[in-house]
Amino acid sequence: MNTLASNTTTPTPTVWDGARRRIHVQEVGPRDGLQVEQRFVDTAEKIALVDALSAAGLAKIEVSSFVSPKAIPQLRDAEIVFNEIHRVPGVVYTALVPNLRGAERAIESGAGELNLVMSASHSHNLANLQMTQAQSFAVLAQAAAAARAAGVAVNVSLSCAFGCPMEGDVAESAVLDWCARYIDELGADGVTLCDTTGMAYPTQVERLTRAFLQRFPGTPLTLHFHNTRGMGLANVLAGIAGGADRFDASFGGIGGCPYAPGATGNVCTEEIVHALELMGYDTGVDLPALLAASARLPALIGHDIPSQLVKAGRRLDLHALPDNFAETRDRALARDAAR
Ligand code: COA
Ligand code: ZN
Repeated sequence: MNTLASNTTTPTPTVWDGARRRIHVQEVGPRDGLQVEQRFVDTAEKIALVDALSAAGLAKIEVSSFVSPKAIPQLRDAEIVFNEIHRVPGVVYTALVPNLRGAERAIESGAGELNLVMSASHSHNLANLQMTQAQSFAVLAQAAAAARAAGVAVNVSLSCAFGCPMEGDVAESAVLDWCARYIDELGADGVTLCDTTGMAYPTQVERLTRAFLQRFPGTPLTLHFHNTRGMGLANVLAGIAGGADRFDASFGGIGGCPYAPGATGNVCTEEIVHALELMGYDTGVDLPALLAASARLPALIGHDIPSQLVKAGRRLDLHALPDNFAETRDRALARDAAR
């Protein structure tokens, strides 16, 4: 077969053929990102960032968390932020919630969805939430009941679903059994599998995604990756290959769990949006507006951000020709003339 000739025909669609299909990119930077920063970002700045993100077209934004202010002092202003953001119709403003107290605060503040959290790892659950997994599940049941009574949607995020930095691999069956309990017993409207410390790898992601969607076909699945070992975007693509269409991401690529050794930033929202749009997916996000929001971060958090896209610009942001370009060209052409 003439392999060269086959290159000239219409390419066979790949498993990642976007075809303008919507991929939901959900912004968690104001929570997952800012929670781990040394510097407290001013409340007014947080509000402005959330407003910039909603204006950029992010349709779900995790605004803050309603946790103990002793555990996460950086987000102790969650109520004020929720009260003062400009609410864009259609945008879902969510909050991370670990217990009933958090659920009550979030409902009172008008969160559109509660993102209840516990860990697939016993050790990480204790380190992060000071509870056994059974205790966490019991308080999440109370939180879910409060949300249901208030007519607020519930998502459950399962940390360390792809591995724990203290325990190692977590059995896939254990992850799926927790998901079954969230859906059947808590009535969760959605589940997020979180790779809290960047231990997920693409084949594992594709396998677990397929297994989840096969077992829970009616439940929206979100995948939440951290780029700790450089596999973030690869894991997103593996998730898409497995059938996922919802991903958490953090503008600027900031983020991490302060109670997980070695945690670093989430997959970067603008990098995910940039790659997916090039591949023909529709994210609904205005990339220049998002880049402008991310570019504000270094001044607010006091250090550089992981985002490669803020540094390099978009693929077709072209650069000026070098100053000596005309001379170089003339010299090159003169070689032909001299021949
Ligand atoms: N919001 C505000 N305050 C809360 C709270 C909440 N959701 N839950 C508990 N508190 C307060 C209590 O009132 C108590 O305050 P006091 O010391 O002034 O009396 C204090 O926190 C301790 O309460 P307790 O119920 O004993 O909690 P704990 O110390 O066992 O901690 C959690 C449990 C879940 C509250 C805490 O570990 C936590 O907030 N973890 C979240 C960590 C996190 O966000 N990690 C990153 C995201 S994955
Ligand atoms: Zn995270």
